[in-house]
Amino acid sequence: MSTVQEASRKAAAVPLYRAVRELARNPLDALVGFAEAAGGDVVRVNLGAFRPYLVSHPAHVQHVLRDNAGNYPRDGKGMLWRPVKRLFGEGILAEGQVWAASRNTLQPLFTAKRVDALVDGLAASIEASVERLDEPARQGRAIDLGAELSQIVCAAIMRVLFADKVSVAEALRIVSAQNTIATAIVYRLIAPFVPNAIPMPGDRPFQAAVQQIDDVLLPIVRAARERGDDGSDIIATLSRAVDAAGRPIDERQARNDTVAMFATTTETTFGVLTWLWPILRAHPEVADRLYAEVDRVVGDGPVRREHLAELTYLRMVLEELLRLYPVGWLIPRVAAEADVIDGTLIPAGADILISPYITQRMSAFWDRPQEFDPERFASPRAERRHRYAHYPFGGGPHQCLGQYLFYLESQLIVAAMLRRFRFELTHPVIPEPQVAASLRPKTPVELTLLPRTR
Ligand code: HEM
Repeated sequence: MSTVQEASRKAAAVPLYRAVRELARNPLDALVGFAEAAGGDVVRVNLGAFRPYLVSHPAHVQHVLRDNAGNYPRDGKGMLWRPVKRLFGEGILAEGQVWAASRNTLQPLFTAKRVDALVDGLAASIEASVERLDEPARQGRAIDLGAELSQIVCAAIMRVLFADKVSVAEALRIVSAQNTIATAIVYRLIAPFVPNAIPMPGDRPFQAAVQQIDDVLLPIVRAARERGDDGSDIIATLSRAVDAAGRPIDERQARNDTVAMFATTTETTFGVLTWLWPILRAHPEVADRLYAEVDRVVGDGPVRREHLAELTYLRMVLEELLRLYPVGWLIPRVAAEADVIDGTLIPAGADILISPYITQRMSAFWDRPQEFDPERFASPRAERRHRYAHYPFGGGPHQCLGQYLFYLESQLIVAAMLRRFRFELTHPVIPEPQVAASLRPKTPVELTLLPRTR
């Protein structure tokens, strides 16, 4: 036995019958429950052929994602990572040298300076899209909020990050294929030990949706590579990208990164924001404060760059929204070598399951965790918290590239909408989260916008 193993104890386990029964009833609640019952210690979830280690304590999350990240790759051999790899392949959402080359290429596009330079373009596009909602508002016609937000996000992102190389109509087709994928993948996420060669439900719609995405994006990627595009958008940047040895990346990697960047820049933002309106309906005191801030800071004109720093309560609301609904809810890793986390042995090859959804809803780390309370993010309370008690954007070398962009874009969208409209929900309930590759509302949010009278 190695010293690693001698110095440690085996992880407590959730027995098979209990794990299966509770996960089948409500997977997200069940996972939070397992972590709570273990008091934040590492716990093994026995699902028969698949026994991942659930890591939920902020200090342990930091160990895996940051301090000892080298030992915890997103390994394609890891069960939870394999299904996702079938869509994104080798590139920014993978690991190793290929990932490093993609990260080097893409990271400079999302620095605060670069993103700040996009604000005016984003603001103009968002304002124009939100203005279109005047018509259903005047007519008193209900809208599907998720669909409208996806249109607003796609129009803005295609313009500023994809230089209109992908039309809004094409973007919406890709979004629809992404929706299919996010739910079709679930079968493989819950039974990751089934080899790809064995067909499973969800496989056909998954493959058809990947094809639809490739049909739109591949010709655009090819054209940029062939003509030597010198633009600064994502596709042009990828067309000039090189690997660590300075050789141009191949078409497959350019495709993989384009698909990954499309998904991460679109569905994340509108997925999270869809929850906001039902939450505001359930918390009129938060809504009143938010409306008051938008009115004070933005006033009658369009939202502009200089307003953003002053929309501090809106920023707190978004942070709290991401605490309860972290769209990137599943962060799978694999232990390359045996390791010990706080006295618990993690054997080599172990599947590690980390989820901001779980940590961010645990009563061990959060007071009244089920309650929506943006005050949690007021300083100095926020500063006193462990960095990994709230990690909707992950951490360590794979830390999300889009955090700054997300807050900025979301502030623009929410402020533009609240400035113009009050609203009524058709069904005043907060949708349940649905387990899919990304977290999304299980039911659509339908609402009627009411023009503001100020
Ligand atoms: C609410 C919005 C978002 C959330 C909650 C979110 C969450 C996450 C999380 C948890 C990770 C880490 C995954 C891991 O460690 O395996 C991640 C990675 C990533 N995110 Fe986001 N994301 C969001 C929006 C965006 C946006 C707008 C972009 C656009 C640039 C983006 C680009 C990426 C990329 C490229 C990675 C992979 C980074 C790497 O592995 O080096 N994300 N995101």
